[in-house]
Amino acid sequence: MSEPFAMRLERLAREAFDELAAACDLAALEAWRVRFLGKSGRLTEELKRIGTLGPEERPLAGAEVNQIKGRLEAALGARRESLAAAARETQLAAEAVDVTLPGRGRGLGGLHPLTQALRRIEDIFAAMGFDWAEGPEVEDEFHNFEALNIPAHHPARAMHDTFYLAEGGLLRTHTSTVQIRFMRHHAPPFRIIAPGRVYRADALDPTHSPVFHQVEGLVVGEGIHMGHLKATLKRFLEGFFEQALSLRLRPSYFPFTEPSAEVDIGCLLCGGKGCRVCKGTGYIEVLGCGLVHPEVLARIGIDPERDSGFAFGMGVERLLMLKDGVPDVRLFYENDLRFLRSLR
Ligand code: PHE
Repeated sequence: MSEPFAMRLERLAREAFDELAAACDLAALEAWRVRFLGKSGRLTEELKRIGTLGPEERPLAGAEVNQIKGRLEAALGARRESLAAAARETQLAAEAVDVTLPGRGRGLGGLHPLTQALRRIEDIFAAMGFDWAEGPEVEDEFHNFEALNIPAHHPARAMHDTFYLAEGGLLRTHTSTVQIRFMRHHAPPFRIIAPGRVYRADALDPTHSPVFHQVEGLVVGEGIHMGHLKATLKRFLEGFFEQALSLRLRPSYFPFTEPSAEVDIGCLLCGGKGCRVCKGTGYIEVLGCGLVHPEVLARIGIDPERDSGFAFGMGVERLLMLKDGVPDVRLFYENDLRFLRSLR
């Protein structure tokens, strides 16, 4: 009676070991455990059967079942270990990083050419002791025109092609508005620049854009005269264009300056001999300027008998086009990377 029981156990053990060796992943291993060692697994069933044996056979049979159970559990543990190790190996191999491969470029971005130009302009003026001021792009008639000596119906208004807003107000046509805003809250002496966006109802073409950038300059104090203006502009323009330049102040007209002038520089391309860029004149116009009109000072509460000042305004796109030979203002707004990179 004990013989068949022992034999059956041996066969069961052999089958169990064979199947364990064939289980090739953790799921198969778990199925194997349920099949042999689970609550109604085959070995557990043998354990239950011991109760049906004669009292003299039970101790031996119990010992045998327990011994096999111990061996199977040990084998299961070992198999689980080796499968887990193999899985770890496979995962490590899959995730391996080849540190000798060349890197993939990161494609760093850069500042827009206009931003770079504005920063350079600010740096040059900062080195001459200028502060920085700003004002709103949505303005009113007072700051854009009246306070600058351009009353309603003044012909200068027609030259400004203004965008008027339906709800009142307008988009500033120049940064001269900031002169007024600054002078209302600051007593002379002071020197400031005011960079910013301005708007004019122009059609977009190679030299016009309905939105562009200006940098305004304003210096007020006792004894300020044209000589200061010219020296300041010369220092700035030579810094910006990175070369010695000849300057020419040509009489002009702005309602808020008196006298007024356009500033020309010797042609960057031909050096004054006359070429396509300067249309044969040897000079290129770069900005407008003048001494602040005494009326403008007086109306804002600055005594023109004591203080005088100069102001200038320049178009940033225009300066950059001249400096880098950019043929079309639209290139600054289209943001074609090939163009942007070419100005780095
Ligand atoms: N605001 C003028 C313009 O936009 C430029 C200017 C500024 C002229 C300051 C004189 C003084 O054309």
